[in-house]
Amino acid sequence: MAVRDENNISHLLATCGNHDLDSRHKQNKFDPRGFLKALEPPFPTPGAKKHEAIHLEYWANNFSIIEDANWRLLNINSCAYHGYGESSEPELLHGRISDYTLDAIEARLGEVVSASPQKTNICLFHHHLRDVSSDEFEDKSTMKGANRLIKLLSKANLGEWFVLHGHRHRSDLYCAGGNSAPIVLSCASFSATRTGDENNPCPNQFYVIDLDTSQTVGFSKVKGTIQAWNWTPGTGWQSDASIPGGLPIKTGFGYRGDLHAFSDRLCEAVNADGRVTWQDALARFSELQYFMPSDLEALNGILSLRPEIVLSLEGTRIRELVRNA
Ligand SMILES: [Fe+2]
Repeated sequence: MAVRDENNISHLLATCGNHDLDSRHKQNKFDPRGFLKALEPPFPTPGAKKHEAIHLEYWANNFSIIEDANWRLLNINSCAYHGYGESSEPELLHGRISDYTLDAIEARLGEVVSASPQKTNICLFHHHLRDVSSDEFEDKSTMKGANRLIKLLSKANLGEWFVLHGHRHRSDLYCAGGNSAPIVLSCASFSATRTGDENNPCPNQFYVIDLDTSQTVGFSKVKGTIQAWNWTPGTGWQSDASIPGGLPIKTGFGYRGDLHAFSDRLCEAVNADGRVTWQDALARFSELQYFMPSDLEALNGILSLRPEIVLSLEGTRIRELVRNA
């Protein structure tokens, strides 16, 4: 609660991670979630009373929906079955969203989104949607049911969605599919070390996300910017320099346009002015702030093939574009 009060935050909300539960029955032989439910202030909705539906829903239905004037948050317990499952296939090894839960979410979202389709949609849970396997590392802990959840949150009649998750401690920012698919932020760890997880290239990070909630009509669009803070040994938390493997210190999400058409417009500006810096481009094309790192890389790839301009980069970001003399 100190985090909320000292930073003037209106809502402090959490979600359940695998290490929050006593799924290995070290403290209690039969109730992996008991002590978490007993916490005071209440978890995961510290602002609510324990008997309030908004709090009980999360534990009873494995999800809850919290709404404010401009946004709604779908909070899913991806650890709902930890402590259960057959001993040969324990649930604690992965996340899960069941078909029952997905059916219930779909029914509830149908009601709340049609009542106020313009609200910015945020979905929060712990486990990841895509496995992060490599030749050296086999990832078996992805959330089961993830594909159906992505499909559900891609339905255009439920508006666009911004998804936040953790678990694998690897930062990533991506669109999970087609034109109306959710935009997903996979968060790095705030404090866990990489001991035992040496394949993880990501530093400790936390994020300040600025979601545009100004929309007042139509189905919600998701766009915003992210400032990443990196833990730097000897310095502490800093947001002055990006660290390879992590999310850049400044990035965005929500641009869903045609990159080739955008590069044409950018090149027209370079041809007209002779030189365009990143700041010039941002001032002229405000949508550039909503490009994800992968979009910027794709744009750079297109621009590098244009013979009429010279592209110079700073990380994945354009430093300047100069007309080729
Ligand atoms: Fe986890």
